[in-house]
Amino acid sequence: MSDVPRVVEIERLAYPSTWPPSAYRKELQDNRWAHYIVLRDKHIIEERVAVAQPQEAEKPRKNRLFPLSLLPNRPAPTIPSPDLASIIGFAGLWLMVDEAHVTTIAMHPDHRRLGLGEFLLVSLIDIAYTIGAKWVTLEVRVSNYAAQNLYRKYGFREAGLRHRYYSDNQEDALIMWTDEIQSPAYKQKFQGLKAELMKKLEAA
Ligand SMILES: CC(C)(COP(=O)(O)OP(=O)(O)OC[C@H]1O[C@@H](n2cnc3c(N)ncnc32)[C@H](O)[C@@H]1OP(=O)(O)O)[C@@H](O)C(=O)NCCC(=O)NCCS
Repeated sequence: MSDVPRVVEIERLAYPSTWPPSAYRKELQDNRWAHYIVLRDKHIIEERVAVAQPQEAEKPRKNRLFPLSLLPNRPAPTIPSPDLASIIGFAGLWLMVDEAHVTTIAMHPDHRRLGLGEFLLVSLIDIAYTIGAKWVTLEVRVSNYAAQNLYRKYGFREAGLRHRYYSDNQEDALIMWTDEIQSPAYKQKFQGLKAELMKKLEAA
């Protein structure tokens, strides 16, 4: 729940139209078929903690009598919580019978093209396995080639079109599905791609 404000911030940067924050809260509280994840950058946590706890040499001396921050009308600087600031991406899915429907997946624009959007998708597919889904499906804007490339890499194929699906610009949605994820062929492809990605991320 406490991650929702940061998720909404990233969503605004990533999508032309957004869910109200209450929709996320409702999803987390009321929808037992929904699964949401956030991706955190541990370097951001370390940096923010270092800023919030200055080194010994930087600590204010005892005899400093009148800190400027105590002057009237001078608000003390606020340091965003390291935990919130460290969130750089998020994703979610719903399980419907034996289908995992990806509802959202987004990376903060400053952290794209590093393999992390792919890491989110891999994490969703891992969840799909854990909850016993047989297929993974999603809708994507016909103009969203970056996301479509990512999905195609993981074996999603076009299965149809929803006309004027997006209300902000009446854009069509491509409907995409994986093959059966429990099949040996898909498992092998998925495990191969995941291993390659983990190697790339560990080397970075
Ligand atoms: C889609 C999104 C999550 C991808 O995140 P990312 O971290 O930049 O992607 P990655 O670096 O993990 O790339 C993984 C694959 O995605 C594809 N891809 C990602 N960005 C791409 C781009 N700008 N152009 C072409 N292909 C791209 C490639 O196939 C890439 O694999 P490769 O590195 O082997 O070429 C990100 O662009 C995003 O948040 N977009 C806005 C929200 C959105 O559109 N979500 C999808 C809704 S359906």
